[in-house]
Amino acid sequence: TSLDDFIVRLPKAELHLHIEGTLEPELMFALAARNGVTIPFASVEAVRAAYRFSNLQDFLDIYYAGASVLVTRQDFHDLAMAYFTRAAADGVVHAEIMFDPQTHTDRGIAFATVIEGLLSAMAEAERRFGLTSRLILCFLRHLSEEAAFATLAMAEPWLDRITAVGLDSSELGHPPAKFARVFAAARAKGLKLVAHAGEEGPPDYVREALDILGVDRIDHGNRALEDPALVARLAAGGMTLTVCPLSNLKLCVVSDLADHPIDRMLAAGLHATVNSDDPAYFGGYIADNYRAVAAARGLSRADLARLAANSLTGSFLPAEAIAAHL
Ligand code: ADE
Ligand code: ZN
Repeated sequence: TSLDDFIVRLPKAELHLHIEGTLEPELMFALAARNGVTIPFASVEAVRAAYRFSNLQDFLDIYYAGASVLVTRQDFHDLAMAYFTRAAADGVVHAEIMFDPQTHTDRGIAFATVIEGLLSAMAEAERRFGLTSRLILCFLRHLSEEAAFATLAMAEPWLDRITAVGLDSSELGHPPAKFARVFAAARAKGLKLVAHAGEEGPPDYVREALDILGVDRIDHGNRALEDPALVARLAAGGMTLTVCPLSNLKLCVVSDLADHPIDRMLAAGLHATVNSDDPAYFGGYIADNYRAVAAARGLSRADLARLAANSLTGSFLPAEAIAAHL
């Protein structure tokens, strides 16, 4: 089989995917028209042309603006269904999708509208494609601890349908420690914990995510490589890192995919995985990410199979469900 078919046929879990980051320009225009929302772009081509970022904040500014077309429960359903359809075609068997409630509740959209739309798409994806999924509620780290607590309170009626909380948005200046108490509260409610750390932030932010938040996975984690003791600790602890190669390229975390550290991570014993982060903004879904690092770093089929297996073992599925996919 071709390398392409091999990648698509590998059973994969997607562990780092922001559902708002799957909003393709075509759907952005369709939803803007449906909801009478104006967007500052003349055409789909103009939107795509604006997707040139020099850092995380450049991207976040345009990503939050794009989300303004999402208004109704049907919009969230359609957004997630488009993602699941694409993911199923790439051989994703399980997806743990992040959503940013504050991006919506802060502009007057009810928490219920967001989560009910996502949950109905998740049920449909399981019926249509056999693709299972879980929800990760992310707190926006540029906002306050108090706002994160208010978001956790809004989620209370749906906690049995939310698997984990996460931490995303502008990393520099917003260390994990800022959210120590809200993560402790989430843990007390039985939720799993993940956090973006070491994307732009220093290795110390990865340490804080481990020591102060007690996370179950690290999202990104690239800058941990600057600290050999931290790498040894992550490897020994079997900590899953949800790495996003095309995101790293587009947000200038790496200057060239030829320098991407994915194979160095594996060689160091890290439980690295490959994920798409915000595929509509970064130019590729999960199989594109596997193909891109395979080509740029000369990964073997064994390396690719290891990355896919890591994604299943690093998921929050029960052990029997993981074993059934491996
Ligand atoms: N929100 C969506 N994508 C993100 C990323 N890569 N880092 C931080 N926040 C995000
Ligand atoms: Zn992310």
